[in-house]
Amino acid sequence: MLRHLPIFLIAILLFVFPFNLDRFIHHSQINSPKPSQCYQYTSDHDFKTYLQSTNTTHISTNLCIEKPLPTPLPHRENATMLMLCRNSDIYSVLETITNIQDRFNKNHNYDYTFLNDEPFNYDFIYLVTNHIPYARINFGIIPHSHWSYPDHINMTQVDIARETMTDVPYGDSVSYRFMCRYFSGFFYKHEFMREYRYYWRIEPGVRLLCDVRDDLFMRMREKGKVYGFVISLFEYVGTIPTLWESVVEFIEMKRQVKERELVGMVVNEFGWFNLCHFWTNFEIADLEFFRSEEYEEFFQFLDAKGGFFYERWGDAPIHTIAVALLLQKKDLIWFDDVGYYHPPYLQCPRDISVYLQNKCTCDPNLDFTMSDLSCTNHFVKFI
Ligand SMILES: *[C@@H]1O[C@H](CO)[C@@H](O)[C@H](O)[C@H]1NC(C)=O
Ligand SMILES: *[C@@H]1O[C@H](CO)[C@@H](O)[C@H](O)[C@H]1NC(C)=O
Ligand SMILES: *[C@@H]1O[C@H](CO)[C@@H](O)[C@H](O)[C@H]1NC(C)=O
Repeated sequence: MLRHLPIFLIAILLFVFPFNLDRFIHHSQINSPKPSQCYQYTSDHDFKTYLQSTNTTHISTNLCIEKPLPTPLPHRENATMLMLCRNSDIYSVLETITNIQDRFNKNHNYDYTFLNDEPFNYDFIYLVTNHIPYARINFGIIPHSHWSYPDHINMTQVDIARETMTDVPYGDSVSYRFMCRYFSGFFYKHEFMREYRYYWRIEPGVRLLCDVRDDLFMRMREKGKVYGFVISLFEYVGTIPTLWESVVEFIEMKRQVKERELVGMVVNEFGWFNLCHFWTNFEIADLEFFRSEEYEEFFQFLDAKGGFFYERWGDAPIHTIAVALLLQKKDLIWFDDVGYYHPPYLQCPRDISVYLQNKCTCDPNLDFTMSDLSCTNHFVKFI
């Protein structure tokens, strides 16, 4: 009898709980849960019971939580807020999403997608879900192959780079390099992201400094925009010594790119990269751009050079150069009416009527656009 006890217990369990938890938590990173398979949130009590029933402190699979939308149903574009973060970021995540809800999303109830290279823990999932009242909340795990060294990378050279680059920001960091490479070539391939057309990238700790009264996703779609930014600045040259050489090689290979109308946006009078880039901690963009064959070719070409690891290529110059090579004037938009803060810089609308209408709380004299370190005045000449 004892020998059969485990089987007996399982049979009883299956009888008592015919609905397996796998319905909600998919154990494969290849297929994320379809909306119909998301955990359907009904009450705090039920949700707590559900989280506890997983009997783990961390949830190591893609998990989505569907909270019912308010009625009347809001108009929603095919879009998600996107944040890459860690469990330890929880309090700045809560601060940021509360601000985003208050300044923008309470009027629209867009989904949120949180991505992490490690499993999210119970507290993170519980608190974030509590603070977002409606819509779908995706907690996605980044597949290991998207957050690791590709085979062709020579680890000796990586170590040399990390030891010699201590004078540039994050020059000695491995995870920062994985992050830059992830945002350059992978985030749009995540199973959760594949379900959306547009995303708005945010980070733990960023803040909106004015109400965003317009639906920016709708503005993107109606105006046929592909890439939107707020702040721009210059890159540290020490992070990208050979990036431009590689880009020139790419342009030589794909001659049609040379004629594109935005190339001048990133080239200085010596024919070198002018170091101007969009500050990509804020981005609202059309995922179809990143999923295009041309972008993928561009990323693969650069990835093969190894500069994400042998140097410290950032996703900001990569996205910016891609926009300049592959898009057109009409595709770009500067959200000059958005008040936005990512330490240490902020954008603050200087137009007094915008400032008043959108209840801004920033000091217009601190608006980074007017700084010598900003590239926006240069960019605006092209768009
Ligand atoms: C829950 O997890 C603990 C620790 O991993 C384990 O000892 C216990 O048997 C588990 N309980 C159930 C019901 O699976
Ligand atoms: C890796 O890089 C080091 C240092 O440049 C070099 O000596 C070594 O031959 C390289 N290894 C391979 C397998 O290419
Ligand atoms: C949203 O966009 C994605 C990617 O373009 C597409 O696969 C999906 O069908 C769209 N969803 C809806 C509801 O239109």
